[in-house]
Amino acid sequence: VGPIGVFDSGMGGLTVLRALNRRLPREDLVYFGDTARVPYGTKGARTVQAFAWQDAAFLVTQHVKMIVVACNTASAFALDYLRDQFAVPILGVIDPGVETALARTRGGTVGVIGTSGTIRSGRYQDGLARRIPRERILACECPLLVPLVEEGMLEHPVTDMVIAEYLGPMKQARVDTLILGCTHYPVLKAAIGRFMGPDVALVDSADALAEAAAAILAGEKPAAPTAEAVPIPEQPGKLTFFLSDIPWKFAEVGERFLGRPIQNVTTVDLDEFERAEGLTINGKDGA
Ligand code: DGL
Repeated sequence: VGPIGVFDSGMGGLTVLRALNRRLPREDLVYFGDTARVPYGTKGARTVQAFAWQDAAFLVTQHVKMIVVACNTASAFALDYLRDQFAVPILGVIDPGVETALARTRGGTVGVIGTSGTIRSGRYQDGLARRIPRERILACECPLLVPLVEEGMLEHPVTDMVIAEYLGPMKQARVDTLILGCTHYPVLKAAIGRFMGPDVALVDSADALAEAAAAILAGEKPAAPTAEAVPIPEQPGKLTFFLSDIPWKFAEVGERFLGRPIQNVTTVDLDEFERAEGLTINGKDGA
């Protein structure tokens, strides 16, 4: 019991929340977006780990039964670390994305795009390389796409130019599958699909993750309903939002990612929260 906690560096993770809500409509979801410290994609591994720890610790105080790391950069740098630190099941976006891509590739090259941090961590590439040769893997960091999405330039010639610049080599290499390894890219699916062409499978890591979360939850429930089981009422799950800052364009950016207006938003100052709760990292490195 309890809600599923989802965190991200900012509001982009609402694409993951949306996918989870679509796949598991009766689950209560608590979202934490670290809007005060976004972006994570340009920052180093230790910083991202420290931020991710605070994000997860906050969600734990909301009594979540599972934590979903919606942020690809945090999944890349902090997933193992968080699993070490917290007892709740923690799910990242990278493995589900890798699995989906491997299922969809038709023997050609698999491309992956993400923030500088995600791509330089090599996590997607290593995951793919466990099953296909390195020559079939192509990765590219696309740092300009995050601000373009935040500005709402989804259908815009500037965005098309940036996509062409970054993805030109992928197209030339004839990738047959492309992993959209960043919270912001699902909303660029149409523009990316137009450039890459209809034969390239675009893997949305948000959808892949929602499937993985559903599988874990299904595993927790009894295999078959017992005779005396009372049918659960079809109640839609509740969505609750916490942000560490309210950015100027919060409402429009939120709606872009979530697909509807965002409500029930509370701001939290993580540092203050950490002091008040007396949270401490009890990890192996004693940080
Ligand atoms: N959420 C980040 C990711 O998926 C993108 C934004 C950022 O750089 O923080 O990697």
